[in-house]
Amino acid sequence: MDSELVSRLTARMRYEFERTAPPEGFPQFPDIPVERYTSDAFFDLEQDALWPKCWVLAARVDELPRPGDFVTFDSLGSPMILIRGTDDVVRAFYNTCQHRGAPVVRETRGTSRLLRCQYHSWSYDIHDGSLVSVPDERDFVDLDRSLRCLKTVRCEEWDGWIFVNQDSAALPLLEWLDPIPHELDELQGPRLSTVARRSEVIPCNWKVTAEAFLEVYHFRHIHGHGGESILDNRGAVMSLLPRGASRMITPFSRTAQSANGMTAWDDYQHVVAPGFTDIDTVNDMVRCTSSAYSIFPNLITPIAAYGFPFITFWPIDKSNTRIEWTHYSLDRFASEDDLPTQWTTRLHSFDQIMQEDFWNMAPMQRSLESSAISGVPINYQERRIWHFHEQIDRMIGLDRIPDGMGVPQLLADYVE
Ligand code: FES
Ligand SMILES: [Fe+2]
Repeated sequence: MDSELVSRLTARMRYEFERTAPPEGFPQFPDIPVERYTSDAFFDLEQDALWPKCWVLAARVDELPRPGDFVTFDSLGSPMILIRGTDDVVRAFYNTCQHRGAPVVRETRGTSRLLRCQYHSWSYDIHDGSLVSVPDERDFVDLDRSLRCLKTVRCEEWDGWIFVNQDSAALPLLEWLDPIPHELDELQGPRLSTVARRSEVIPCNWKVTAEAFLEVYHFRHIHGHGGESILDNRGAVMSLLPRGASRMITPFSRTAQSANGMTAWDDYQHVVAPGFTDIDTVNDMVRCTSSAYSIFPNLITPIAAYGFPFITFWPIDKSNTRIEWTHYSLDRFASEDDLPTQWTTRLHSFDQIMQEDFWNMAPMQRSLESSAISGVPINYQERRIWHFHEQIDRMIGLDRIPDGMGVPQLLADYVE
């Protein structure tokens, strides 16, 4: 973030503290229809028209450091494999043999210079997926190898994070993410390593999980330990970014200000967490607020100078979601069993906050599936949720949304 953006966000926080109502002319949202979380029809539309067109995080470069290293990626339902070529480029293919559809690799990670299907040993080149050998080829009549290549998947990288997209017509990744990669340059993404991973299945729709991270209206009520919240949600600035993405900067509460040697919420200090390797390029506003980005559809990152997690949400079915969160830092540790105390403490307190967020999710889904709630009212502070739903409808196609299940497009004028 450059200093111009930091000043602009600080001025916006001041405005948010001082306002007595939503800004003049801000739209009143109709309720979000509950069927968006509960109906088979809506879930099927997402599966059919949303997920196959989105860039989603599939791996981190440090998972496949050497030529021939591969990892599989199954979180979208279609099995995929990501493999690093001898030219150092990571490519993605469907992990589906073009003979009779067996998985080409069964291991979730490994190293191989050739992708040899484990069923009848059809073998494919790791660079272009071309079919290079077929046992007993004489038994096929006129087998055209050129028609039996492994099918490729779009695969592009942002600062060490590898994304895939099943839509060959999708925007290039960096254009899709713009302006976030530019704003997050200061995180030194290419130098980061994976510290720890967590994963949990929650019995609720994936949007219920995502929405918990799109507002801080809940923060002091759910995460206010002993009545002391570290954030002051009244000053939170929600910025709606193109293509369903968003940014949220929330000032520290008085308690957190004093703990960090600040005299006011905007008295940003160069706070360095003791014991952690500091990402020294991170600006002081980020160090003295809670700052987070959302990348549509399923990635949230609360950023910090000592390391930070990426949180992702993967639908299993309409009522079950796998949440994953992976922490990154400038330090490279041999294994998760080997972490220094400051990191184990940090992971423990982060996991505790996640559990506080998870508590509501299964009961909320049960309520949404009952007749006890007829619609979900969203307020100005929760507008990132509305923005997220608008983008879902745009991806699916406004004309394909079943009657009564859509959200009107109301926020175009508020996107930065
Ligand atoms: S299914 Fe792969 S070689 Fe037969
Ligand atoms: Fe929360």
